[in-house]
Amino acid sequence: MIFYFSGTGNSLFAARQIAEAQNEQLVSIAEELQKEGSVLEYEFGGNDLLGFVFPVYAWALPEIVLDFISRIKIRGKPYIFSVSTCGDDEGNTTRILQKELNRKGLSVDSAFTVIMPNNYIIGFDVDEKELESEKLENAKKKLDSINSAVSKRQKGVFDIIPGRFSGIKSGIINPLFNRFGRSTKPFYATDECTRCKICEKICPVHTIKVKEKPVWGKQCTQCLACIHRCPVRAIQYGKMTVKKGRYVHPDTR
Ligand SMILES: Cc1cc2nc3c(=O)[nH]c(=O)nc-3n(C[C@H](O)[C@H](O)[C@H](O)COP(=O)(O)O)c2cc1C
Ligand code: SF4
Ligand code: SF4
Repeated sequence: MIFYFSGTGNSLFAARQIAEAQNEQLVSIAEELQKEGSVLEYEFGGNDLLGFVFPVYAWALPEIVLDFISRIKIRGKPYIFSVSTCGDDEGNTTRILQKELNRKGLSVDSAFTVIMPNNYIIGFDVDEKELESEKLENAKKKLDSINSAVSKRQKGVFDIIPGRFSGIKSGIINPLFNRFGRSTKPFYATDECTRCKICEKICPVHTIKVKEKPVWGKQCTQCLACIHRCPVRAIQYGKMTVKKGRYVHPDTR
């Protein structure tokens, strides 16, 4: 079973590549969280696969993935692996995941980072087209090597990319991001909005309701799917996204 979360399609692509190669079920974390009850129970056989595939947000896991992990109950002893996708580096994301799983009596057997095109257009901009293509090509190769390790159930492979100053990034900047960087107040839609409701449908936390225009509730995991996937570029986040590019993985476009 491969659990995934994805805003703009990178992690979905990675999860799909693995699920297809391993003949495993692909399960959306956002959809699982819509289920009733506080505990989400899954049963595994001894050699079964349990994968977590998700994007890195401010050098840690998206809150929605942490929420999911806090609700799961795993029966059996599957082989557990994780794949974080990010634009540059993951900081201490795998270490944080390991800690959260340890609380549940679980542990990651192997972990991987895949560098993919950047979608964080609030702080930065999308990658130049050449770099985007290069990252997508390299990601395919990395996913082949991940599939090879996972097929063999290799343990102790930590092929991750923490980058520089990972302690500061994950330990200091991440809590600041979660506290101050996830407000929905700066979101707005311009008059270009056609009320197609795509943003409402794709928001993983169902916080958007399209009336005259989209209206945002309080909850938001900051996946930026609404901004990137609006077909007419009507959605902005304050002034920060006005002059920035938009990115969606080619398989999600
Ligand atoms: C809120 C937010 C924070 C991000 N933080 C990081 C980061 O700390 N390091 C990094 O390399 N990329 C960062 N990124 C880029 C994404 O991790 C990267 O583009 C990822 O592959 C997107 O996956 P998705 O298409 O499955 O949503 C961030 C993106 C967002 C939206
Ligand atoms: S996706 Fe864009 S055009 Fe469609 S309703 Fe949302 S803001 Fe409007
Ligand atoms: S409001 Fe936009 S950025 Fe926030 S969770 Fe929904 S789609 Fe993602």
